Amino acid sequence: MKCAILTGGGDSPGMNAFIRAVVRTLLNTRPETSVWGVIDGWRGLAFNHYRRLGKRDVAGILTTGGTILGTLRFPELKEDPEVQRTVARNLHDEAFDYLFVCGGNGSLQAANVINQILRKEQWRTRILFAPGSIDNDVCNIYGTSVGFYSAIDKSLQMLEWIRDTASSHRRLYLIRSMGRDSAFLALFSGIAAGAEYVIRPNEEVDFEKLATIASQRDRDTRIIVSEAYPKSLEEIQAIFEEIFQRRGIQREVRTVDMSYFQRGGKAAVTDILRASWLGYRMAKDALGGADSGFYTAFYTGHIQPPLPLEVAADLSQTNHPDIPEEIINFALALR
Ligand code: F6P
Repeated sequence: MKCAILTGGGDSPGMNAFIRAVVRTLLNTRPETSVWGVIDGWRGLAFNHYRRLGKRDVAGILTTGGTILGTLRFPELKEDPEVQRTVARNLHDEAFDYLFVCGGNGSLQAANVINQILRKEQWRTRILFAPGSIDNDVCNIYGTSVGFYSAIDKSLQMLEWIRDTASSHRRLYLIRSMGRDSAFLALFSGIAAGAEYVIRPNEEVDFEKLATIASQRDRDTRIIVSEAYPKSLEEIQAIFEEIFQRRGIQREVRTVDMSYFQRGGKAAVTDILRASWLGYRMAKDALGGADSGFYTAFYTGHIQPPLPLEVAADLSQTNHPDIPEEIINFALALR
């Protein structure tokens, strides 16, 4: 059997654990399998850029952030049917039996399109997909994506640092979080850190009310701003400064952007274990001749039967980027 592994979209901590689990499970279970890493994500598939992976090549990477295979942005794949066909044809010409993918929502949509070409042409490659994204926007009604909890860990640490200085200076801090057009990362980071408020992407924000909340606090106030909220931190800062001045509230306002720091660094233990579990299950299923599918799990050992890629791709679009009402109530109740 010949297999390829690809990491796509924004890197997320736990992708390396996923790569390691797939390689080790395949080679320990069936040593004659040949396993190839696709270099630089989907772009690597379009240009046939691979590297053979043995068990030693994935040693020492279990906890590290980023992805050892690389992941370059490749917008042409979404836009150009010719590029999609090239990728499918390359998989067929290279005689890969399986392509293992760990990536975000964009990668899931790409995997689905390429899988459809492969099936239509009756080419042999099957695609097994695991969600890997700090945004947690990949069909997340069935489990969280690899990297999400790692990014919350980083956010929590940064939000605690900010509280120290905010509290010392009696300041309001506006803190930008990544998450693309989903509020999951911003909201869960806010809940974990006990922030005063999280502004969601499409929210009608009552700034007067938020100014009252800040004025009633003795010292620090931290408001997290989701990436896709349309106003810049500086625009929000100006709004608060005007309200504070008009209402005679003594509060300085500062801004800070956590974005790329949230994505880097060591993986959280939950992500290491879940990524390893997913990689193991997918490799085992491939050895058993599984069809293409989307794999996910809430925790290590949790079995959610794989979904057809087209179902997962559709669910990922339609359930995105809504946050369940109960999670918002949960956040508000703990403030
Ligand atoms: O999808 C992960 C993510 O980090 C998003 O939160 C963010 O919008 C995007 O990637 C940033 O992408 P890039 O690294 O290409 O700037």
